[in-house]
Amino acid sequence: VDVTYIMIKPDGVQRGLVGEIISRFEKKGFKLTGLKLFQCPKELAEEHYKDLSSKSFFPSLIEYITSGPVVCMAWEGVGVVASARKLIGATNPLQAEPGTIRGDLAVQTGRNVVHGSDSPENGKREIGLWFNEVEVIEWTPAQAPWLME
Ligand code: GTP
Ligand code: MG
Repeated sequence: VDVTYIMIKPDGVQRGLVGEIISRFEKKGFKLTGLKLFQCPKELAEEHYKDLSSKSFFPSLIEYITSGPVVCMAWEGVGVVASARKLIGATNPLQAEPGTIRGDLAVQTGRNVVHGSDSPENGKREIGLWFNEVEVIEWTPAQAPWLME
């Protein structure tokens, strides 16, 4: 079973979109295994986005991610990484399809409200980066047999 790290970025929190965004993953049928409101330190933001460190927008990206609280989430499910990316939509919200989170709720790449891991390996890596072990909960939702045969 795959896991993905989903984060509501500071703009999503400031704009009051936390419930709306969590709902979309919850209603789809994935399992929430970690959830917290968190003020991200600069060092963690730099580690999380280290692959982008050579980009011209890197300093503004770090400033953005650390500019206010974020909501950190771990979600589990078969195919959750790719499916969550589809629910989130394209990086540039103007190109994101209507019906996706970015397509419905955002207008600019630098304020695209949500993050989702881009591979199962990065899903694991990022959950390890953002959560302590005791913050990730193993449980069986009551609805499990109604979601998958
Ligand atoms: P994440 O789920 O946040 O990782 O987005 P992504 O996988 O769709 O895009 P990517 O990993 O390439 O970039 C990470 C984040 O950096 C994006 O979500 C944006 O917030 C930001 N970003 C990427 N490209 C640009 C850019 O050209 N300009 C600005 N200002 N920000 C960018
Ligand atoms: Mg990415």
